[in-house]
Amino acid sequence: MQVELTVNGERRSDEVEPRMLLVHYLRDVCGLRAANVGCDTTSCGACTVLLNGESVKSCTVLVAQAAGQEVITTEGLASDGELHPVQRAFRAEHGLQCGFCTPGMVMAAIGLLAENPHPTEREVREGLEGNLCRCTGYHNIVRAVLAAAREADAEVTA
Ligand code: FES
Ligand code: FES
Repeated sequence: MQVELTVNGERRSDEVEPRMLLVHYLRDVCGLRAANVGCDTTSCGACTVLLNGESVKSCTVLVAQAAGQEVITTEGLASDGELHPVQRAFRAEHGLQCGFCTPGMVMAAIGLLAENPHPTEREVREGLEGNLCRCTGYHNIVRAVLAAAREADAEVTA
């Protein structure tokens, strides 16, 4: 089938298998490797991307379901050479250790802050429950998300 959608601001039209998962489309057709396949059972969150601004696990979405919609992966976050504020916060707070879970964590954090711009620490931990880090780097990840929320606040009031 032919599928048309926007990926990281680029309109695309591709021939795909109707059963193709969004994560496989992003990796194998678009050549974008930030969304990882960690489990295939909707458990790990390594495949998280934004679909129309909401974080979704792209291993649970068919690319056909994303037709006509807008997908953003970690590769599409920086603009004009500047990292996204959540990426900056992850770097500043040492919220990352490996490249496997981090892209999904960043995308889930962006989705979380879009829904709840002023989360408590508990809300951040609950919001990221669907994203696993096997080396238990959660503490700094939570700090990074809270820092990104504070920075966004500071920009609004500046
Ligand atoms: S690969 Fe999608 S949740 Fe693990
Ligand atoms: S930092 Fe990636 S699994 Fe822990």
